[in-house]
Amino acid sequence: MKEKVFIETYGCQMNVYDTELVKSILTKHKFSIVDKEEQAEIVMLNTCSVRDNANRKIYNRVHEIKKQNQNALIGVLGCMATNFKKDLLDNTKLKIDFIAGPDSYKQLPTLIEDLRETNEKTYDINLSEFETYSDVYPVREKGVNAWIAVMRGCNNFCTFCVVPYTRGRERSRDPLNVVEEVKRLVSEGYKQVTLLGQNVNSYKFEDFDFADLIKMVSDVEGVERIRYTSPHPKDYPTKLLKVMAERDNVCKQLHMPLQAGNDRVLHKMNRTYTKQEFLDLIAHAREIIPNVKISTDIIVGFPTETQEEFEDTVEVMNKVKFDQAFIFKYSERPNTRAAQKFPDDVSEPDKTKRIVECVELQKEHSLESNQSEIGKTHMLLIEEEFSKKNPELAVGRTDCNKVVSFLRNNNKVGDLVPVKITQASPHGLRGLL
Ligand code: 5AD
Ligand code: SF4
Repeated sequence: MKEKVFIETYGCQMNVYDTELVKSILTKHKFSIVDKEEQAEIVMLNTCSVRDNANRKIYNRVHEIKKQNQNALIGVLGCMATNFKKDLLDNTKLKIDFIAGPDSYKQLPTLIEDLRETNEKTYDINLSEFETYSDVYPVREKGVNAWIAVMRGCNNFCTFCVVPYTRGRERSRDPLNVVEEVKRLVSEGYKQVTLLGQNVNSYKFEDFDFADLIKMVSDVEGVERIRYTSPHPKDYPTKLLKVMAERDNVCKQLHMPLQAGNDRVLHKMNRTYTKQEFLDLIAHAREIIPNVKISTDIIVGFPTETQEEFEDTVEVMNKVKFDQAFIFKYSERPNTRAAQKFPDDVSEPDKTKRIVECVELQKEHSLESNQSEIGKTHMLLIEEEFSKKNPELAVGRTDCNKVVSFLRNNNKVGDLVPVKITQASPHGLRGLL
């Protein structure tokens, strides 16, 4: 009899992908995956610790699961594994049974076996300089897009960020191995691949850089669209921008995480660029890839950021007019350099005021960007045959990542169809077949 496992995933796309890896590892052993928590003998929470009070959320979830399913074993995977180790060992009341960090998923069958045999809590949170899981073929969700991690880890140590501590150092997969996987994905019917990595454009395998990898993936016959996330502005050489411009199946969409617009704050964040360098890079990218759509991440209220310094972020937003922005309040993360060196001294009301200002401004910019699409015809890759909001509509995405809904006409997920844009809101577009 196979043991039934339910996995719940939090956080970024890398975690979604890692859950697919874990499913593959488990189903090769004596486990099966179920989609209802009540049916599970083992519940795994694949956690994230990038922002917010994630620990509390997971503690509450563990408590809830134990109430409903007393006999289930509970495991914590992912970025919070290290955070929980001490609690696991010290706190006998805590109902977590095993822990596996992001580089320890191959150990999961052994961890569970040891736990069953000894009745003692087990864990493996070692970080590896080598593990890329290139020999594991994930159990993917059906759909148009397949995630594929090409590198893992981060060497940048931005002072606010916990990722280098939870996921370890950068390592990249052999490009030939990536290409083989992409070929297999195409043969299974996936239309789009999204290359993943904590710093995906820092990809480096022997003499191959990220531009070389994109070229090789774009040469695979049948790949309609290639996206990647999440990049760092420091690794956008002209060579990469040119490959993006020249290749039809590489989406004309750039993510350029700004984080802050003020030079002193950027320096304290260890972002390695200045406001002007960032603006120059955007101008350069727009020159090489005309009509490229640009998204960003912004943190407001980094320690010691003054109102005047925050205005520099607003200024960059106004100059660049990002097509999309993900805006966050600074939240102190344990172990980071910022947590150790800089008190979290921007008040909560000030952080709120700043985030509201950025969100409102971005709404204007997103609307402007979306309105500029009206009248244009875009090829849409259909992702939902029936929109959740209105089943008469189908939903697809443009090359540059805009979501468009339109009156369906027997369209199937994975179809590529030309749609003329007719209406725009800050959040999306409407179109006509
Ligand atoms: N506080 C707020 N936002 C953060 N991010 C990362 N760490 C923090 C933090 N401590 C944001 C950054 C990053 C995105 C993935 O999450 O903007 O680009
Ligand atoms: Fe975190 Fe910076 Fe690494 Fe991105 S580049 S994962 S923000 S440390």
